[in-house]
Amino acid sequence: MGKEVFLGLVGFGTIGTGIVKLLQKNDELIQKRLGARLVIKKIADVDIDTPRAVSVDRSILTTNVNEILDDPEISIVIELIGGYDYARSFIINAMRKGKHVVTANKALLATHGNEIFTVADEEKVNIGFEASVGGTIPIIKTLKESLVANNIKSISGIMNGTSNYILTKMTEEKRPFGDVLKEAQDLGFAEADPTYDIEGIDTAHKLTLTLSLSYGKRVNMEDIYMEGISNISLQDIEFAKQLGYNIKLLAIAIQREDSIEARIHPSMIPFDHPLANVSGNFNAFQFIGDASGSVSLYGQGAGMMPTASAVVSDLVEITRDMVKGVWRRVPLRSFTKNNIEDINLMSMDDIVTNYYFRFSALDHPGVLSRISGVLGKYNISIASVIQKGRKVNSSDVVPVVMTTHKAREKDVQSALKEINKLDMVGAKTILIRIEDGKLK
Ligand code: HSE
Repeated sequence: MGKEVFLGLVGFGTIGTGIVKLLQKNDELIQKRLGARLVIKKIADVDIDTPRAVSVDRSILTTNVNEILDDPEISIVIELIGGYDYARSFIINAMRKGKHVVTANKALLATHGNEIFTVADEEKVNIGFEASVGGTIPIIKTLKESLVANNIKSISGIMNGTSNYILTKMTEEKRPFGDVLKEAQDLGFAEADPTYDIEGIDTAHKLTLTLSLSYGKRVNMEDIYMEGISNISLQDIEFAKQLGYNIKLLAIAIQREDSIEARIHPSMIPFDHPLANVSGNFNAFQFIGDASGSVSLYGQGAGMMPTASAVVSDLVEITRDMVKGVWRRVPLRSFTKNNIEDINLMSMDDIVTNYYFRFSALDHPGVLSRISGVLGKYNISIASVIQKGRKVNSSDVVPVVMTTHKAREKDVQSALKEINKLDMVGAKTILIRIEDGKLK
């Protein structure tokens, strides 16, 4: 047997249990690949009594994280606490004591990453965060290593499994948002407070990290345009289908001449786009590199063993460096630290894409021409129109659906503001952006 590398695990929940299980199950295989043995020396959790789906020697369990922080034999800590303050101070303390860190905490890295990465540089330790973006899918290592020679022209991804599960069920079973969300919560797929998942915040954490590695940029997450799925209705899903699209919560980033376009919102994507058929709680990412062309990665973005797989890959990477006696072969954010700059994000006003509008309009003569007149005034060219079924009373509103050729967001917003004020228009117009599948 080779060298033993001692680990401290903080947070013995689902993922923690998965890591212990995986290290037990594939112990020999991992040793053969690593030339060393990964040994969990201590596990800290507030609850060490509830039985877990794995057996561990009780003597390694503790409720006191200092037993990990103060143990000089432990060289890598795995942070699975989640949240911000406590996890941040734990990680910083661990690094100050010279320990490498592996974490799945995307929220923390997306908001406090600059501080944490700076301490890691000061202390000459490594941080593995493969599990933080796309769960088991190797996004971090792909960007840092496999695609390192490329200018990343664009990134598009379904980065949140919960919202993808909800949209898939709504599409396939024609059930409304609230109904599917409740079922997802009952089944434990969605959190009791689902805000992070359904409002795009979890996606924004992942896009922030992905942008940082792709472009060597510091990103302020709040500057990214973000819209969730809670306003998506069955009616719009049905109209999208008629037009040849599925609706997905997409994260999109495109390298523009001297800025980066980055946005998160529900998008209509053509049935034949690689991301259109990513169903259920799966995640998928598409990168377009200037040399590689399009690269798609698909897999489970959460779950016990898939996430454990990503965490253990980080443990192996860090240990391989230790075995070779090198300090962090690959820079934390792919770019060397003097080459990381503040991002220049394109204003949402300036993005250009195709649009779907659903107007709630009276079915009277002249209504379409008034609406199209306003769109024309703002240079918005109509690509198609669907209007079905007159209601019984002439005072009822009917849905009028239009898609546009490429238009500028600022013009679209101005036009809709004007249209929403027309007396023949009822409820606020629904806008969903359409991505034509080229995303470059
Ligand atoms: N809650 C996330 C999701 C998984 O639904 O995809 C962890 O990021």
